[in-house]
Amino acid sequence: MYILLVSFLFHFNLINVRIQLFQKHRVNLHHIESRPSKQDKALYAFFVSCDNKTGGLKEAIQELKEKSTTFSILSRDSDKDAIPWFPRKIVELDRFANQILSYGSELDSDHPGFTDKIYRARRKEFADIAFNYKHGQEIPRVTYTPAEIKTWGTIFRELTKLYPTHACREFNHIFPLLCDNCGFKEDNLPQLQDISNFLQDCTGFRLRPVAGLLSSRDFLAGLAFRVFHSTQYIRHGSKPMYTPEPDICHEVLGHVPLFADPSFAQFSQEIGLASLGAPDEYIQKLATCYWFTVEFGLCRQNGEIKAYGAGLLSSFGELQYCVSDKPETRPFEPAKTAEQQYPITEFQPIYYVADSFDSAKDKMRAFASTIPRPFSVRYNPYTLCVEVIDSKDQIINLTKTIKGDLSLLEDALAKLGNNKKA
Ligand SMILES: [Fe+2]
Repeated sequence: MYILLVSFLFHFNLINVRIQLFQKHRVNLHHIESRPSKQDKALYAFFVSCDNKTGGLKEAIQELKEKSTTFSILSRDSDKDAIPWFPRKIVELDRFANQILSYGSELDSDHPGFTDKIYRARRKEFADIAFNYKHGQEIPRVTYTPAEIKTWGTIFRELTKLYPTHACREFNHIFPLLCDNCGFKEDNLPQLQDISNFLQDCTGFRLRPVAGLLSSRDFLAGLAFRVFHSTQYIRHGSKPMYTPEPDICHEVLGHVPLFADPSFAQFSQEIGLASLGAPDEYIQKLATCYWFTVEFGLCRQNGEIKAYGAGLLSSFGELQYCVSDKPETRPFEPAKTAEQQYPITEFQPIYYVADSFDSAKDKMRAFASTIPRPFSVRYNPYTLCVEVIDSKDQIINLTKTIKGDLSLLEDALAKLGNNKKA
């Protein structure tokens, strides 16, 4: 089936007239949705998906364009040159659950748990939780077994010895808060929902469970909404210091602390926003930047090299190796970093060093502007939607929002000045 997704704006009482327009040109409609327009309160936005192989679609589009305030084609499934589909609303991340590249209980033959039937059954329990999860639900709490808690305890004990000397300042600032608020303890595996609540309070980031491997495009799209897809299972107990895939130790010890830091959260979201609707080759470049920053990034603080990447902060061996004089370090420059090849099963031979999260964010934003996309995107934290900015009206609306923020800033600065004088 070939689907064309279009949106257009007009008065609600004209809907029947517009729908008849599709009938007139013999175009099959599959779905219609309506929302109040964000651009003009008197108008409504309509989203229509239709079959583009029947009737006179070209003529219907032409007539619709002439009669609507704005009109745009959101995606054409059959068109290679079309902008790839991306979620506009946070609830649309639910679609990714059905698009996983592998189910979490399918293990490779060299996986430490491959022949362990009990472990595989347990992995299926976790995969099912994630597969059935929908946005807005509480993430189911899991009672971890004594064996799982023992594996966690071994990793927790060894890594927390290294954090004060090897992890970046921001990580060490937040980690004690996770111990106090989310139950990060040697004898307790924290629950994803508690962590998600904590992160939402700090930066608006939230966790959602994932049943298996997502494509880079889908995973990065989650970050645009400040959503991090997290595994909930733990690695096989026979090799506590090794895992061939992300597990809860990697997610909550490696990733979670920095998602509570405002600058890092914004940096991560920049990568996500840059990915929306980007061509495939740029998704690869952004995924490589993600690898060398969020997963394996280093930063310079007070003249010393510190780790901020989750792959380092969750690996006892690589955390020590990355700050030694063995690997090569280079400054983080997205355009160059994006081209670097890397191994995934051994320690990295090259690491990229950021001056700060803010400078890394500015560099990512500059790199994102080179991605060939006929629009800009902006995340609206009130509606949890991504707004596509591709028309004059939307730019005017954005200007009004920025004007409001500037007058607030002006007011706050003036009050601060008056307080100082007093
Ligand atoms: Fe990771």
